[in-house]
Amino acid sequence: MKICITGGAGFIGSHIAEECVKKGYEVIVFDNFSTGKKENLSFVKNFPGSSLKIVKGDVADYKAVSKAVKGCNAIFHEAAVASVQKSIENPPATFESNAKGTLNVLEASRNNGVTKVIFACSAAIFGDHPEIPKREDSPVLPKSPYGADKYISEVYLRLYNELYNLTTVSLRYFNVFGPRQDPSSPYSGVISIFTTRIAQGKDITVFGDGKQYRDFIFVKDVVQANMLALEKIHSGFHYYNVGYGKATDLNMLISILQKIYQKEITVNYTDARPGDIKESVTDPSKIIKELGFTPGYSVEEGLRILVESLQ
Ligand code: NAD
Ligand code: UD1
Repeated sequence: MKICITGGAGFIGSHIAEECVKKGYEVIVFDNFSTGKKENLSFVKNFPGSSLKIVKGDVADYKAVSKAVKGCNAIFHEAAVASVQKSIENPPATFESNAKGTLNVLEASRNNGVTKVIFACSAAIFGDHPEIPKREDSPVLPKSPYGADKYISEVYLRLYNELYNLTTVSLRYFNVFGPRQDPSSPYSGVISIFTTRIAQGKDITVFGDGKQYRDFIFVKDVVQANMLALEKIHSGFHYYNVGYGKATDLNMLISILQKIYQKEITVNYTDARPGDIKESVTDPSKIIKELGFTPGYSVEEGLRILVESLQ
């Protein structure tokens, strides 16, 4: 099986790439290295004889995508500007990667005989609509350009199935965490920022009162969801919420980290960020029932693995 992973040098994409290499698939990583890194792919040295090719390119460039996906059976489309806050600063730039990029991946699939696209969608499509927990049919109400781009991408996934019979799967990830998540930007994922700063003995900042909550899911569980979509879905358009199914607010998260690090953490509270969602948690029954998804890591278990990997 030949697989292309857009954004494969990033946090989640590199874990998907690792699993594909482990399974003996031929892998092409397509990435513009805006946040991705070659060292995220260094696992490949543990798999002698494996096939992993890196192509530097941008998903906003149709020709480059089309060339890279030729001969592939399936695509995991992970490439995107992953930050909600960056999308608020520059909606058109984010649109290029996050909406146009998805359309290019779908169009390149249709024109090059790729049969399946599995897309990294997001819980951000739900915004602050009060229905909680989020189910697959919960109302969609994006609160940021990022959420809007992810939603329009999902609409295109449905259309490319209906119009051109491409098999498409939208996995709406909730808040993913784990090793290789880049902590270096102020807009990085909260767990990567907190764990890195605490390990360095630095203080941390909470935007708002810390009562905003998320459904944090360990990256290995997200890889499992992707592999199930690859192996079990062979036709149609499907969409699933991918979370662990438990709400953890930032104050609870800090208490767990305090327990793991066994040290006092200095926490500064400041104003909430615009576009920030307050409550986000899913009921993952649909993916559990239909694909046999079995999330295996609680937030605390995942955090312990992450903290160990940082030491
Ligand atoms: P990441 O920034 O580590 O990975 C994104 C990768 O895409 C990087 O390697 C980056 O260099 C690449 N990329 C960005 N723009 C590109 C472009 N225009 N062309 C080619 N490559 C490009 O982020 P991540 O957390 O691994 O996110 C992966 C995917 O999952 C993204 O689509 C993101 O929106 C989605 N997602 C992430 C989370 C989360 O909690 N991390 C939750 C929901 C959805
Ligand atoms: C995250 C992902 C996004 C994904 C979405 C799905 C990243 C960078 N963002 O967005 O790709 O689609 O989940 O739900 O991976 N916070 C602090 N202090 C900090 C950093 C953040 O208090 O130093 C707060 C934020 O204001 C927010 C919460 O922590 O309230 C989570 O923020 P963040 O990790 O950026 O995630 P989301 O915005 O939920």
